[in-house]
Amino acid sequence: MSKKPVVKIGLIGFGVVGEGVWKHIQQNRSALERRLGARLQLVKVAVQDMKKKRKVQIPPDQLTTDPMSIANNPDIDIVCELMGGTTLAKKITLAALHNGKIVVTANKALICKHGAQLFKTARAGGGHYFYEASVAGGIPIIKVVREGLVANRFNLIYGILNGTCNYILTRMERENLTFDKTLIAARELGYVEADESLDLDGWDTAHKAVILSYLAHGKWVSIKDVPVEGIVNITLEDIQWANKLGFKIKLLGIISQNNEGKSIFVRVHPTLIRKDKIMANVDGVYNAVSVNGDIVGSGIHIGRGAGQDATASAVIGDVADAVNILLRTPQPMGLEDTNELYTPVGSNIELSSLEDVSSQYYLRLSVTDKPGVLAEISTVMANHDVSIASMIQPEESSNQKTTLILTTHQSNEKRIQDTVRDLEELKNVHQKPFLLRIVNFD
Ligand code: NDP
Ligand code: HSE
Repeated sequence: MSKKPVVKIGLIGFGVVGEGVWKHIQQNRSALERRLGARLQLVKVAVQDMKKKRKVQIPPDQLTTDPMSIANNPDIDIVCELMGGTTLAKKITLAALHNGKIVVTANKALICKHGAQLFKTARAGGGHYFYEASVAGGIPIIKVVREGLVANRFNLIYGILNGTCNYILTRMERENLTFDKTLIAARELGYVEADESLDLDGWDTAHKAVILSYLAHGKWVSIKDVPVEGIVNITLEDIQWANKLGFKIKLLGIISQNNEGKSIFVRVHPTLIRKDKIMANVDGVYNAVSVNGDIVGSGIHIGRGAGQDATASAVIGDVADAVNILLRTPQPMGLEDTNELYTPVGSNIELSSLEDVSSQYYLRLSVTDKPGVLAEISTVMANHDVSIASMIQPEESSNQKTTLILTTHQSNEKRIQDTVRDLEELKNVHQKPFLLRIVNFD
């Protein structure tokens, strides 16, 4: 029997994801090693706190608090960066790539911020950079867009890209729970980022949308050019109103092509989706990515978007690709080829303006309950050419104030933003109107 080659792995980070990766490699080791034709050896693991109690045990001599020593260790073939952050993680990743190592990451914030430099370094140093776990957890969406659908141009990619937010919105809707209670549960399940604002304010979704946008269009969109809204202002009341109107609320990342493919727009916001749409029924920690390719048409990819197991599955998938490269077995298309193919597209493509982005809208207003107020509001809307599609006013009011729920016909971002600004200035409108988008994608 021939002896299998040994592939040596260093893990940087042994938290939710790192522990999961190692646990599942151990559990499925024999099948995995048979499939790969190689033995996987964990050489070193970098952590911050050597004394921390860990659910997955590692011999103490394999632990280090010096992650750079893993990036520079000539004995290590594959470095898995599973620690997060964008400063030290960047330094370590660059060092490992310069050293010609294969780096596997789940760090979407890092790719979004420094992807261009990291990919360039990977190509120049002969290393490889794999990042399947960075978008949509266990759904192999990077492979789908980069490899399976490579023949296509992508008119529209949108989806639920944050497990934490979807989990929170789902439990609020199903169980009438408060935002805070569901957040505690999401933390316990290991879904939430160390910096919770990344999830709740929409930035994590934006990081993932930027990565998908690069894959689809070859253009690195700066996060500064992405309008981002999270879920922190969504109340149980909004969820219930949306339900009455026939919608569910989901936080979506949307990458749309405009002007016949000459420009793209990336945005993140909570969105009303008709209840009969598949996307509206993707609940809990599940993510869904709808990809519309000009050749293949539309397809929706659904799977668990966060948590130890789903993420570890994606990381181990990348480790397997890395092993294939190391053993020089036939490869699916790698990073270099992808960029050569996409660069001409990316360099020509522009960012769309707000006028190009259209939608229907949901508005929640707190208004004075007296004659003439509705007329004031509809005048402002008419002034901006925004047409009202439906209106609900509950009968109860307190202190002569009431809530008004409006939906609009198709309008665009510029007109609706101008409308909201003018409504806010009306004496009889008591808070900034709360705006959500209604999408009607196929
Ligand atoms: P955790 O906070 O659970 O784990 C982070 C790990 O990194 C810990 O083991 C920590 O050490 C270690 N670490 C942090 N700083 C240092 C340092 N300076 N030197 C050495 N080790 C360090 O994070 P997660 O596992 O949840 O996330 C890791 C990455 O995966 C992030 O980029 C995240 O965005 C991404 N991700 C997470 C998902 C999830 O569901 N949790 C899903 C998809 C991606 P110690 O244990 O000693 O504290
Ligand atoms: N915090 C992220 C989420 C982890 O909830 O989706 C997966 O990327």
